[in-house]
Amino acid sequence: MTEPLTVLVTGATGTTGSRVAARLSGLGHTVRAASRRAGAGPGRVGFDWYDPGTHAEALRGADRVYLVPPVAEPEPAAVMGPFLERARAAGVTRVVLLGSSAIEAGGPGVGRVHQLLADDGPFDQWAVLRPSWFMQNFTGDHLHATGIRDEGVLTTATGDGRVGFVDADDIAAVAARALTDPVAPGPDLVVTGPEALTYAEVAAVVTRVTGRAVRHRAVSPDALAARLTGLGMPAAFARLLAALDDGISGGAQDRVTDTVERVTGAAPRSFAEMYAEHHASSPYASSRSTATAPSR
Ligand SMILES: NC(=O)c1ccc[n+]([C@@H]2O[C@H](COP(=O)([O-])OP(=O)(O)OC[C@H]3O[C@@H](n4cnc5c(N)ncnc54)[C@H](OP(=O)(O)O)[C@@H]3O)[C@@H](O)[C@H]2O)c1
Repeated sequence: MTEPLTVLVTGATGTTGSRVAARLSGLGHTVRAASRRAGAGPGRVGFDWYDPGTHAEALRGADRVYLVPPVAEPEPAAVMGPFLERARAAGVTRVVLLGSSAIEAGGPGVGRVHQLLADDGPFDQWAVLRPSWFMQNFTGDHLHATGIRDEGVLTTATGDGRVGFVDADDIAAVAARALTDPVAPGPDLVVTGPEALTYAEVAAVVTRVTGRAVRHRAVSPDALAARLTGLGMPAAFARLLAALDDGISGGAQDRVTDTVERVTGAAPRSFAEMYAEHHASSPYASSRSTATAPSR
């Protein structure tokens, strides 16, 4: 392995950050696992994007940083830009940002942070991971998982559009390499699984694995936005998710890339493999049923 590094992992309690932290620890690196809920857990460090008073301690000794943007922040660049300057001043030499396949450099939200790194960013080495939709959106407490459990239905405005769903474990594997390889890959890494699936095909896999009939219900973007708002989601975010679905219906996410295999040397996992393993370890019948939306 490379020299042991110290890596600050933001979002370390989340879907990708927890996996990045575990992977780096397994490789012998020192992880500073950042969360607003400090205390419990080895290597845990208190960190709040909105409290600059927590930043110096979180950055202490860090060589590299994994960046998960503040959740639901419309202008993450305003929050993350000053942090990036602090990180460089504290001795950080490389950052890896979690973005989205739906947002290019210069696009809204995280696209502006991407642009910041690309333009006159403070780091010579950096990478932006732009994953497709997470396979984990169909597990745990996510909205699609509760749709599967409670109704046997996946409701989207994606029509027959395809998505290159990716396993969060594969995103973490790419992140770990981007953080620790002698030269960072990228810098713009669109990360997908091995195949692009329609939601009807996802429903068929779930049906096969669980033995319970699950189907895709295609609705219009307006109907989806209304449904999500009815479930308690802020209207602007509901419209954003509906617009992303509309883009999928037009083919915007119908692609696969070789990023996982090229960067890690291992092929990405298929949805069928991921979901079968997930179901074997936590069958939905015994899961909780409180819905959370995918955090796109
Ligand atoms: N879901 C998808 O299909 C998909 C696809 C592509 C990209 N994405 C992107 O993935 C990102 C979400 O990443 P994820 O799924 O790994 O995270 P996640 O599971 O949604 O968890 C969010 C993390 O952010 C931390 N956090 C929230 N507010 C914070 C604050 N104010 N200060 C510091 N930390 C804070 C949380 O930690 P604590 O609560 O412990 O502080 C938690 O660890 C979003 O930016 C989304 O756009 C999602």
